[in-house]
Amino acid sequence: MEIQKIIKEMTLEEKAGLCSGLDFWHTKPVERLDVPSVMVSDGPHGLRKQDDRADHIGVNESIKAVCFPAGCATASSFDRELMTRLGDALAEECQAEGVGVILGPAINIKRSPLCGRNFEYLSEDPYLAGELAAAYTLAVQKKNIGVSLKHFAANNQEHRRMSSSSDIDERTLREIYLPPFEIAVKKAKPWTVMCSYNRINDVFSSENKWLNTDVLRDEWGFDGYVMTDWGAVADRVTGLKAGIELEMPASGGVHDREIVQAVKNGELDEKILDRACARILEINERYLKNAKSDVVWDKKAHNQLSAEIAEECMVLLKNENNTLPLEKNDSIAFIGEFAEKPRFQGGGSSHINCTETVSALDAVEGYANISYSKGFYIDGDDMDFSLMHEAVEAAQKAKVAVIFAGLPDFYESEGYDRKHMSLPECQNRLIEAVAAVNPNTVVVLHNGSPVSMPWINSVKAVLEAYLSGQAVGQAVIRLLFGDANPCGRLAESFPVKVEDNPSYLFFGGNKERTEYREGVFVGYRYYDKKKMEVLFPFGYGLSYTSYKYENLVIDKEQMNDTDSVKVSVDVKNTGTMTGKEVVQLYVCDLESTEIRPIRELKGFDKVELKPGEKTTVSFVLDKRAFAYYEMKINDWYVESGDFLIQIGSSSRDILLEKKIRVNSTKELPVHYDMNSIFMD
Ligand code: BGC
Repeated sequence: MEIQKIIKEMTLEEKAGLCSGLDFWHTKPVERLDVPSVMVSDGPHGLRKQDDRADHIGVNESIKAVCFPAGCATASSFDRELMTRLGDALAEECQAEGVGVILGPAINIKRSPLCGRNFEYLSEDPYLAGELAAAYTLAVQKKNIGVSLKHFAANNQEHRRMSSSSDIDERTLREIYLPPFEIAVKKAKPWTVMCSYNRINDVFSSENKWLNTDVLRDEWGFDGYVMTDWGAVADRVTGLKAGIELEMPASGGVHDREIVQAVKNGELDEKILDRACARILEINERYLKNAKSDVVWDKKAHNQLSAEIAEECMVLLKNENNTLPLEKNDSIAFIGEFAEKPRFQGGGSSHINCTETVSALDAVEGYANISYSKGFYIDGDDMDFSLMHEAVEAAQKAKVAVIFAGLPDFYESEGYDRKHMSLPECQNRLIEAVAAVNPNTVVVLHNGSPVSMPWINSVKAVLEAYLSGQAVGQAVIRLLFGDANPCGRLAESFPVKVEDNPSYLFFGGNKERTEYREGVFVGYRYYDKKKMEVLFPFGYGLSYTSYKYENLVIDKEQMNDTDSVKVSVDVKNTGTMTGKEVVQLYVCDLESTEIRPIRELKGFDKVELKPGEKTTVSFVLDKRAFAYYEMKINDWYVESGDFLIQIGSSSRDILLEKKIRVNSTKELPVHYDMNSIFMD
């Protein structure tokens, strides 16, 4: 039956009922009118489909699925194509399991390394997060499965996530916290968006009309439905009016009755309820009319894909004297329990019940001759002196010592934030002790967010594996032994110490609110402006080969902000191994009267090059690449003047740059300025 007809036939109670879940994971059916229910499931890096013993914090088991690398890892790929492969595989599992919407991607900005859920999120940079989310969304939805962009918006800490107000000025919201969603909505038309638990400037996201209707729908053109995060309802009727169509999960009928009552007493226009129903039914219909029940997905193939994705995400942070790749014939000591039991996913609602896991020890079999010692236990802070002694002895005998370190599971999870940025003391001490006896010490890290590295000068190489999914071991071994070339780049800055982070003084906030006082200076926008030393900068990552950049061309030296500019640059592989380079484009406003970051990422591309091979990478930049959000006009604005277009291999390693003048076509309202009398 046609949707408007169905709505006409529905009773008020049925309509109110449709706007909340049937149970934990389904929308409500209206059997009398042949309206079926549709299942939604987590997300974002694997399918967490639960049966009747459902929960939303990952306690009870879900069906077996492949755990792909988490957001912290996939973002480091800087690779839209890779996100497409991930989205495609996830959608296939959804098709096979009868799930209509996958609850991801999770794209909140990494404001602080301490946010407990950073492992699921993509980046500190809004452009990177948005572009990758758009690629993921397009791929999933191409297979006729919907996504849910989450958590809209400003959910950047877990502490008091259900009540705290994220107090953010509008310019900062527009430039940092909203664009990941904006880009994904405009480029990929997500079927659904999930609102966050928190308040923004005192208003709950689940009641925020400005956010969910004025910005999301009216400005960006969103045409799906907004669902609440699980239990994120404050006042349901206000929420419905604000543009929150679906409450999840079921409310036991309580809020449905409130809706009915509000319509009856004239507080809620029934048309608003009808519109919400239409939006839910339209999306459900999109899924149902093409749902495929005969899809069989290949567990082995998806496990292999998970390994391949992981390989493209890991970041080589240090490699002194070309310690890596390892020689297969060398004597090598593997140390650390993570070699045997890798940590490859985080805790909470994204927790996947994996089809299998591949540890480094599994994967190294038949590869090379290694010794293994546990060194420490992965689930605690306590030193075990006999384990440490054994590890140091093994390291002494070997040519190379590879330590598999990382954060214990309980250090970072949905629901709470980290207290500090350190690895457990037992691991830091073990690394120092091993490095003291073995001059070729390598550290492989398993963590969802930056850690401090007090031992960085004592070790020769560091491979950041992040939380790289169930086949992590396979990827680590191929990278360590040079069967694959590292090509991940950091999607977040690693500060030297957590106190350096711009949000440090205010992160977590008080009982009611968290002030985002650093404004737009998040991540590298802050460190670069302050010229601060960082452990590793945004965009950074090493390779086993080398690249040369030359011939930066811009197709004009001047433009109006209504125009666009084409930029191209040549990149050559000057080393001896095939590799993938991430070309990064930053824009820098040279003469701004507004306070702005030094540079901001406005383009990136990943290219594969054989030794000696050269290619041209091109970008197109329009107004938005040069603009800031001007509160005087409530719009994006380019101040006339000179800008630099910079090409770099990280935010700190700018290799080529060219100047362009951009002229504004918009006048700002003039304010009489006394200061100008005394100025030249
Ligand atoms: C999380 C969401 C998740 C939902 C369902 C919530 O607690 O914040 O990200 O999708 O549970 O599991």
